[in-house]
Amino acid sequence: MKTTVTLGPARMGEAARIAGMSRTLIEPGLPWSWTPRRVAAHMRQRDNMVVTARTEKDLVGFAMAHFGDDSVHVTLLAVAESAQRHGVGRQLIGWIEESAVTAGVFTVELELRAGNMGAKQFYTALGYRETLRVPRYYSGLEDAIRMARNLRVGG
Ligand SMILES: CC(C)(COP(=O)(O)OP(=O)(O)OC[C@H]1O[C@@H](n2cnc3c(N)ncnc32)[C@H](O)[C@@H]1OP(=O)(O)O)[C@@H](O)C(=O)NCCC(=O)NCCS
Repeated sequence: MKTTVTLGPARMGEAARIAGMSRTLIEPGLPWSWTPRRVAAHMRQRDNMVVTARTEKDLVGFAMAHFGDDSVHVTLLAVAESAQRHGVGRQLIGWIEESAVTAGVFTVELELRAGNMGAKQFYTALGYRETLRVPRYYSGLEDAIRMARNLRVGG
């Protein structure tokens, strides 16, 4: 089933909500690095894209990505538990991938916590492949797995 959401650029007033979701969905057990202030600072930089998924009532997902010359790096991605497995994450990544292609950049990469098997399966389902393991990447506490997708291949 697909939850009906509207995708669009994040608004500055949503930085606290995005930071809160990062805290509970992405960073549990780690120091809170994505504070409202840091999220807002990233939103102000023009080489970052922050896209949200909203239902009529609520912000249920977001993705943040940094656009470099050679690659796009997905910095953060989360979907509220109540909205997971409804295609929202796929739509958010799809938005970033389409934006990357429009910008003439064909590599999308990201890191995820080595213990986050759900996210690993999600990115694998979307065509991402593991490229590297980075020991103790997260505050010295947990390894990262780096994954990447070549957008020139596989449509
Ligand atoms: C990872 C995450 C963003 C996926 O978002 P989502 O909206 O639930 O994903 P989708 O519904 O678009 O899933 C697309 C496909 O990915 C795969 N997938 C997604 N979540 C999965 C899971 N937990 N286990 C196995 N496969 C999964 C499935 O193949 C799924 O298709 P299907 O539902 O038709 O089988 C979401 O689970 C989440 O926010 N998790 C917590 C935060 C996090 O881990 N962020 C990413 C690392 S920073």
